[in-house]
Amino acid sequence: MNNALTIALSKGRIFEETLPLLAAADVVPVDDPDTSRKLILDTNQADVKLVIIRAADVPTYVGYGAADLGVAGKDVLLEHGGEGLYEPLDLKIARCRLMVAGPEGRHNGAGRLRIATKYVKSTRRFYADRQEQVEIIKLYGSMELAPLVGLADRIVDVVDTGNTLKANGLQPLEHIADISSRLVVNKASMKMKHARIAAFIARLKAAVAAG
Ligand code: ATP
Ligand code: PRP
Repeated sequence: MNNALTIALSKGRIFEETLPLLAAADVVPVDDPDTSRKLILDTNQADVKLVIIRAADVPTYVGYGAADLGVAGKDVLLEHGGEGLYEPLDLKIARCRLMVAGPEGRHNGAGRLRIATKYVKSTRRFYADRQEQVEIIKLYGSMELAPLVGLADRIVDVVDTGNTLKANGLQPLEHIADISSRLVVNKASMKMKHARIAAFIARLKAAVAAG
């Protein structure tokens, strides 16, 4: 996006947890995405803008260069594949685990397991590595419901406290990956705006290390 530095963020958890890191790099948004209807937010720096998009769209905007930088969960990056992106920094925010979960009690073993998830690629890879044949059912959210209504035997979703699983009579069964949010950078932007981006990454890195 022209000569400004554009950073793609999603509302909610990622925006809130990224704010202190941005502040350490002297980037402070002028508007609050929870109250503003604007999708491009100005910051205290005239040449730094924030674009507010859905979490799963961040790698797409950054991959195509519509944003120079972005913050995305590793779960989202594993699904996207990372084309056109550098992933220079683990921001260590929005930490959780990608897990297989299912109802308490065992699957009776008859036939292929049916797994409901929005993480189709990660799920396929996990079971392929174990040479286990499963049927994957793509959902867009509320995965925990699927085993309760007989849509699936298991789910693959992110787990933090485990409260959502517990509230729905499910338990974590297998760990697939540790998840945290990563800074992603468009490969062309990294070349064209190198000095500014390198300085920004260095300040974020120091803020992450300071914990
Ligand atoms: P959208 O709201 O756009 O459908 P989403 O629900 O994935 O997307 P968030 O809930 O804001 O968006 O999650 C953003 C990222 O935060 C996820 O990609 C994941 O990496 C991480 N995350 C999700 N749930 C949790 C959680 N309960 N605890 C910690 N981190 C989480
Ligand atoms: C995520 C995820 C689980 C839940 C897990 O949903 O899809 O449903 O968090 O977190 P827990 O293990 O701490 O219960 P969502 O983004 O809706 O979570 P939120 O309700 O915290 O926003």
